[in-house]
Amino acid sequence: MVRQEDLQDRALEGYRSWVEKHLSQKTLRALFKKAKKKAKKEVQEIASLDALESFKNKYLGRKGELAQTMKKMKDLAADQRPVIGEVANSIKEELHEIYDQTLSLLGEKGGTQPTGDLDVTLPGKPVASGNMHILTRMLHDWEDVFRDLGFRVADGPELESEYYNFETLNIPASHPARDMWDTIYAEQPKKAKAKMDDDNKWLLRTHTSPVQVRAMEKYGAPLRIIIPGRVFRYEATDARHEHTFHQVEGLMIDRNVSLASLIGIMEEAVKKLVGDETLQLRVRPGYFPFTEPSIEFDLSCILCGQKGCAVCKKTGWLEFGGAGLVHPKVIAAGGLDPQEWQGFAFGMGPARLAMLKHDINDIRLFNSGDLRFLQQFR
Ligand code: FA5
Repeated sequence: MVRQEDLQDRALEGYRSWVEKHLSQKTLRALFKKAKKKAKKEVQEIASLDALESFKNKYLGRKGELAQTMKKMKDLAADQRPVIGEVANSIKEELHEIYDQTLSLLGEKGGTQPTGDLDVTLPGKPVASGNMHILTRMLHDWEDVFRDLGFRVADGPELESEYYNFETLNIPASHPARDMWDTIYAEQPKKAKAKMDDDNKWLLRTHTSPVQVRAMEKYGAPLRIIIPGRVFRYEATDARHEHTFHQVEGLMIDRNVSLASLIGIMEEAVKKLVGDETLQLRVRPGYFPFTEPSIEFDLSCILCGQKGCAVCKKTGWLEFGGAGLVHPKVIAAGGLDPQEWQGFAFGMGPARLAMLKHDINDIRLFNSGDLRFLQQFR
């Protein structure tokens, strides 16, 4: 049985919550309206852009009157929040409109935009922009020069097999010439399907020359390609030696190819690439198992005017690349008949050319990631 007192208590409780709910609703509605009235009155008095900015902060700012009143909405019953929220939003919109109108009115009267708003008369913020790496640009320049001579650009894998890096290039396992390159070996992938015997190993290519045979296999003859790419050597670094550096390989296979035309092309190319007519290209005999005869190219060290510096090791000359006529064994490894086809090949260091062109005295700067260095070459 419900007791009389309980019924009275329940009725009283219900009345209290009704009063609370309706009063808080009313109070908030009244607060918003009061703020609007005050704001509308105040805005009449505003005569300067600074005063208008203070007005905006006072009513519409994050800590302004509307925002403070809105915080109180959390005490409302859930069903009342949207009702009062609507009132608050429409007042906010109204005050924004009033602000915009006053702003354009003051603007017409000759005021400047207040700080905090977009001021089209101020200088813009500098936009940070990147730039192409100086070596990438040098490689693109190589491609342009050789494309004009009818060469295509090819590439090959950086993780290479001993087969392509050495064997196809006439450097069998026991050959002492393997010591010419300080090789970094890698663990052999399980599913490797390269043409290798069981003793064959994987390595990071020590030069771009393995792509010579890959390209002959793929494209046949006649062939004119250049192969820009990264190579890796387990080597101590100094002003002109890196462990990871770029080479540009070149290969021309045809029926009648001479070393003289290679030297002529190279002379023209380096002058064009460095843009300095005083630059000299020196040719001297060299040795590579995959070319016969072999030559080496040096460049006059224009960094020190050939007086001698750390880059040219006080010799006045900087070693630039190796070249020669492609060995018949290499042509045969590429699947071509060496009786019918011959060719020239070269492998150059583009970083060394970039050093001469841009007066850079240490090759290690290229891979340093130092923006102060890299941003000079925009
Ligand atoms: C070779 O790598 C041969 N494959 C070049 C070649 C290709 C000869 C085709 C014949 C036919 P070499 O090890 O000398 O050769 O390197 C060629 C060029 O790469 C050098 O002249 C030099 O410019 C650059 N180079 C070599 N080692 C480094 C290094 N540690 N750091 C930067 N550049 C290097």
